[in-house]
Amino acid sequence: MRARKLVYASRNPSESLRSRLAARGWHVEVVAGANEVRRSLRRDVAMGGLLDLSSGFDPHELAALAPSLALINVGWVALIDAAQRRNASVRQLIRDCCFDYVTVPASDERIVDSIGHAYGMAVLNEVPEEEREGRPETGMVGACDAMRTLYRLIGKVAASDVSVFIAGESGTGKELTALAIHARSARRHKPFVAVNCGAIPAPLLQSELFGYEKGAFTGAHRRKIGTIEAANGGTLLLDEIGDLPLESQASLLRFLQEARIERLGGQTSIAVDVRIISATHVDMAGAMREGRFRPDLYYRLGVLHIEEPPLRARGKDIELLAQYTLDRFRKEAGRRLRGFSPDAIAAMHNYGWPGNVRELINRIRRAIVLSEGGQITANDLELGDYVTLAPVSIAQARVIAERQALELAMLRNRGRLSDIAHDLNVSRATLMRLMHAHGIHRGDASADLAQELERERRAFAR
Ligand SMILES: Nc1ncnc2c1ncn2[C@@H]1O[C@H](COP(=O)(O)OP(=O)(O)OP(=O)(O)O)[C@@H](O)[C@H]1O
Ligand SMILES: [Mg+2]
Repeated sequence: MRARKLVYASRNPSESLRSRLAARGWHVEVVAGANEVRRSLRRDVAMGGLLDLSSGFDPHELAALAPSLALINVGWVALIDAAQRRNASVRQLIRDCCFDYVTVPASDERIVDSIGHAYGMAVLNEVPEEEREGRPETGMVGACDAMRTLYRLIGKVAASDVSVFIAGESGTGKELTALAIHARSARRHKPFVAVNCGAIPAPLLQSELFGYEKGAFTGAHRRKIGTIEAANGGTLLLDEIGDLPLESQASLLRFLQEARIERLGGQTSIAVDVRIISATHVDMAGAMREGRFRPDLYYRLGVLHIEEPPLRARGKDIELLAQYTLDRFRKEAGRRLRGFSPDAIAAMHNYGWPGNVRELINRIRRAIVLSEGGQITANDLELGDYVTLAPVSIAQARVIAERQALELAMLRNRGRLSDIAHDLNVSRATLMRLMHAHGIHRGDASADLAQELERERRAFAR
């Protein structure tokens, strides 16, 4: 079993509780202030959190703690005293951020149980370890099958030196993938140079790619090194290669065959060692059919092909990316934002995302600034028309709707069983049966669910 980490935030930590936690396998870190809490938390693994409000934190400090309390991979349990239970802001904080609370005085056993349960729920929000593995360290988010295949491919491609051709719709992450390949390759300490073949006017492209000598043409006052030469030793990304004008295609092909360039107006040819990655959203088969792209160049560029999956085919990753973007830009809101409303999540799944990840990022950034409530809604994303989806068959629709309702309620209530059950208007026992039926539990969480079932059973017997 892996070590479970617990952050115990308290002004007056209890030694007996601490040793009880250690005996139950917790690696406990005791901290006293907001900054320490922030430093001790990780975003990528599930953790337990014990927030001892009864030991006295002032409102200012609690506000500073808010971003840490909002992390969905941390299962927070609050300790409060009887008076705090009537305090509106404490109640709000617990509802928003904690899986459970315990009123002190309480037995250490009760607190340890509750932490185990909260941690189990946080595990549900964690990206499983096997899905994190192989993920390039370049800020690529995604755990769906298509992305995992992509990560594996990036790993393999990076180890070799062959030319790579990346195809994919606009905004799917082609440039990010090229960067990931470079960053994992033996060339990573050498330059990564990208040139947008579609953005440079045809007459200038030759000198941009190959450079020129002083006096090569009117206005060439000094020597200029071209992008190919500038990438020497490293990686050259020929972006939007589908838009490369025909006349540059011939000279590029010559360079690929000979691995040498000649600056315009130059007399000597210079050996250049670069790894070529090209990318485009253009349909290359069509471009070749219409005579806009040379097949011999295309085959040279594309020893290995990578296809970037469109966002609409990435399932749950849409939510992962949305949450990642919100975390990244939430400070632009200037106020507390608690995530996405259920209708926003539904709409994000129903919408087709023609502009892919770039569009998702733009919509969320705009929504962060413009939204007025505590959550980003479908309307804030300007996706109000995509909230509902036509079902398939009644039986399928029932299963889909049930699962979706469960998942949304879990997200909305951060895994707090009583609140989820209340939301869904079912008993806790029914809720747990449903969760089992849909397989919405895993690893440690299922142990906690079993414990919870047992607690329910005992309560019922009383
Ligand atoms: N898997 C991902 N995780 C996080 N961010 C991503 C991911 N994929 C793309 N992005 C982000 O989306 C934006 C678009 O990505 P990128 O520029 O790599 O796409 P592209 O396919 O090259 O787009 P275009 O065809 O428009 O040039 C960037 O801000 C990038 O950081
Ligand atoms: Mg691009």
